[in-house]
Amino acid sequence: MTTTLAITTPDDWHLHVRDGAATRAVLPATARQFRRAIIMPNLKPPVRTVAEAAAYRERILAALPPGARFEPLMTLYLTDNTPVDEIRRVAASGFVKALKYYPAGATTNSDAGVTDIARPMAALEAMADAGIPLLMHGEVTDPAVDVFDREAVFVERILDPLLRRLPSLKVVFEHITTRQGAEYVAAAPGNVAATITPQHLLYNRNELFKGGIRPHFYCLPVLKREEHRVALVRAATSGSPKFFLGTDSAPHATNTKEIACGCAGCFTAPHALELYAEAFEAAGALDRLEAFAAFHGPDFYGLPRNSGTVRLERSAWQVPERLDYVDASGIVPLRAGETLAWKLVAGV
Ligand code: NCD
Ligand code: ZN
Repeated sequence: MTTTLAITTPDDWHLHVRDGAATRAVLPATARQFRRAIIMPNLKPPVRTVAEAAAYRERILAALPPGARFEPLMTLYLTDNTPVDEIRRVAASGFVKALKYYPAGATTNSDAGVTDIARPMAALEAMADAGIPLLMHGEVTDPAVDVFDREAVFVERILDPLLRRLPSLKVVFEHITTRQGAEYVAAAPGNVAATITPQHLLYNRNELFKGGIRPHFYCLPVLKREEHRVALVRAATSGSPKFFLGTDSAPHATNTKEIACGCAGCFTAPHALELYAEAFEAAGALDRLEAFAAFHGPDFYGLPRNSGTVRLERSAWQVPERLDYVDASGIVPLRAGETLAWKLVAGV
């Protein structure tokens, strides 16, 4: 039985670190495991310009623990009105790596999102020309569509028509949760890839309701049926360069999760690599974790792979029940109080 696992230093290609005190609370956990992360722009108000991204990047760097070598890779929030000039500034910036598409109203802080994908078409054309990736929250918001079907309908109504119109656009289908999403990406050309979260590899939707409603397993897109989890595990462990690590760690204070209308998001930053190791081991594919976590992402983004390694050991430890966050309610990590088999013993 494998007892130690050394892999090239990985990156997180989908991460929420919020702002201010929240960033200071959550960022050290990511910086310990990952050299770089794609930082989501869904602040209030959202990060819409290169100038705002530069200021946000400085705040993130200032929140790092002394000596950390973490590099935030910034994104802009695409709106109906994103100007073509802003895309030119992104291309010239060097530090803004992508734009994020949120359908208006789909998830946390998405009110300023796109109401119709045709509206920002000039910006999308400029992105295709400049090779700037579009990171897509792949759900439709049509209230007539069942919440468990929103990703599959997104593929038909939004993603496929968009790629027919702009075949060279680089697209990352973020946090895929369905067989349809995985199959679409696997069959698409090389400019289309996907991130997969640890929770969607480890759990199906039953987890939300085991013994009562369990808000810390609620994220968007929501967990799906077992057949979809199995398809995601197959994709992640297939060795295909189209699938890579993106935790979608999305911190919310406990008192905004454990209420009548709780926020969406699983907090996985403290133990992300250990969770992925568990999922890959269960699939008999620990040898495929390194490429998923450290090679496929930078290769897709056209960035160098990291040097250095991190090391995990088979050593049982208990996930804390609660961690410090922005107020006295703290934050509850995914799997709080449970035992994990793998432990990160040598980080970045
Ligand atoms: C994210 C958040 O809280 O910012 N929540 C989530 O459930 N994943 C937003 C998002 O990525 O959809
Ligand atoms: Zn997210």
